[in-house]
Amino acid sequence: MIILGKKVIGHISLNKRQGNWYETQIVIGEKEYWGKGCGSKAIMLLIEKAKRLEISKIYLEVRPTNVRAIRAYENCGFQKTKTVLYPKNKYLPETLRMELD
Ligand SMILES: CC(C)(COP(=O)(O)OP(=O)(O)OC[C@H]1O[C@@H](n2cnc3c(N)ncnc32)[C@H](O)[C@@H]1OP(=O)(O)O)[C@@H](O)C(=O)NCCC(=O)NCCS
Repeated sequence: MIILGKKVIGHISLNKRQGNWYETQIVIGEKEYWGKGCGSKAIMLLIEKAKRLEISKIYLEVRPTNVRAIRAYENCGFQKTKTVLYPKNKYLPETLRMELD
């Protein structure tokens, strides 16, 4: 959970995937808390915790038009690596994969 004061404003997760890779996902639920640094801070805390657990291969997938999220991820050290296609998903036919450098 991402907690600001006493309020839960979102969540962040890290899930094991193939070949020592781990996928992170983050959501801050309410718009009023976007763009205030909370997301970046949560990601940096997650990265620190992952390093302590000797996890370094972390990636995420993001909607290519989500400029705010991409900016936050780049600020935390993620780099754009490739476009992933989901032709059967009409709501999200492609994502941008970003990996922690
Ligand atoms: C994506 C998300 C987790 C990022 O967390 P956040 O707290 O909003 O992000 P931060 O404030 O840490 O960083 C946002 C960066 O984008 C910039 N930014 C904010 N609004 C922007 C906009 N409309 N366009 C471009 N950049 C923008 C900020 O200035 C900041 O960059 P900077 O520190 O270099 O100036 C959060 O916005 C969120 O949950 N959004 C809705 C759900 C979502 O998109 N989840 C991700 C799915 S992959």
